[in-house]
Amino acid sequence: MAAALFAIVAFISLLPVMAKSSRPTYAMYLTGQHNVVPDSSLVTSITHVVLAFMQSATFNQPDPSSWPLFTTVEDTRSRFAKGTVVMVAIGGWGDTAGFSEAAKSDGSRRLFAKNVKAMIDHTGADGVDIDWEYPGGNGEDYLRVPNDEKAWEIDAYPKLLAEIRTAIGSSKLISAAIPGLPRDMIAFTAETVPVIDQYVDHFNIMTYDLMNRRDNITKHHAGIVLSLEAINTYLSRGIPASKANLGFAFYVKWFKTDPDAHANCSAKPVGCATVLMEDPKTGEDLGQAGAFSWHDEVPSRLAQSFRKALSEGSYDTESGGYYYWDGEENTWWTFETPESILLKCSAVVQTKGLGGVFAWGLGEDANGFEHLQALCTGFENAFPKRSSQPESERVDEL
Ligand SMILES: *[C@@H]1O[C@H](CO)[C@@H](O)[C@H](O)[C@H]1NC(C)=O
Ligand SMILES: *[C@@H]1O[C@H](CO)[C@@H](O)[C@H](O)[C@H]1NC(C)=O
Repeated sequence: MAAALFAIVAFISLLPVMAKSSRPTYAMYLTGQHNVVPDSSLVTSITHVVLAFMQSATFNQPDPSSWPLFTTVEDTRSRFAKGTVVMVAIGGWGDTAGFSEAAKSDGSRRLFAKNVKAMIDHTGADGVDIDWEYPGGNGEDYLRVPNDEKAWEIDAYPKLLAEIRTAIGSSKLISAAIPGLPRDMIAFTAETVPVIDQYVDHFNIMTYDLMNRRDNITKHHAGIVLSLEAINTYLSRGIPASKANLGFAFYVKWFKTDPDAHANCSAKPVGCATVLMEDPKTGEDLGQAGAFSWHDEVPSRLAQSFRKALSEGSYDTESGGYYYWDGEENTWWTFETPESILLKCSAVVQTKGLGGVFAWGLGEDANGFEHLQALCTGFENAFPKRSSQPESERVDEL
């Protein structure tokens, strides 16, 4: 009896360690812009919720008096299944200056890390997601601050992560949101990735926005071939497949194609020329491309074209993505559909043996939550052992 009890206690005490390495990840960013959570039936398979964002600069203050965030960890826990991991994301697109300041020196890295620990203690979060977009350059400020002025960040980024790990210990989680385009993977080399990997529990690989306004030809912004390129690049540089999460986008993107390329686009809509979409000197948006979530109102000037994109679009089996080219409006539409989500799960998550999936973001898919439902199915298909186990034997429920 005593021996049996001891065995059970010993087994249970081992669980957190086991769960951390073996449990597939199904993460959702919950954003301040779309703070909507569906019925519990749609969130039961979600394992991690990542609250986006806290500002990076907050963590460079000597003694921050508050931790501004659009919600609280406590309130978030009440909206998800018991045992769901709740993390706080720091940074996001455009929020790079605070990270650069943090990474600069031993002292600044220690201060930042100490504050991450203080924030976790204060909020009760289970960990932190570092969304530095991106160390080493090609962020929102890429034309204002040239990459060569950021070259030092390639060495400093792993050091910052190391300090955060030291400060928060091994019981709290660190994830890193990392770029999906090889041109932005400046700080993720075959030399740095194995170092970074020591400090990070999982990598949220942002396999979306793979076409953006810096491009000049049409592509699938979250497509399979481009996603595989991202995943293969990271795996070859040393990210273990089991720690790599594949990103999904619950939003729609559109881009204006070049009217002079009309014949080309008509013959072959994938890879045809766009107009110039940002000012090459300042990086200013020229209004020729954009995005909106499934929850957003469709801009009225795009409404008719978007209706056609929904009803008349096609799936490109060659590059793996749903698209529509509107020849009347010279507009390229690229987005994930429930069907394309299932295909991406099997073609990338299953084929590469990845550790999980994530999406930006949960509330972006309100009110229909069709993409979320597809991702739930895709996740369960990719990890069949887990979902076919009887409820009572599921380690993650304990
Ligand atoms: C299109 O972009 C690529 C890099 O993505 C660049 O090498 C090429 O020169 C650009 N072409 C034009 C016509 O701007
Ligand atoms: C149309 O396609 C041809 C052949 O690929 C290419 O040479 C030409 O530059 C394209 N035209 C435009 C306007 O993109």
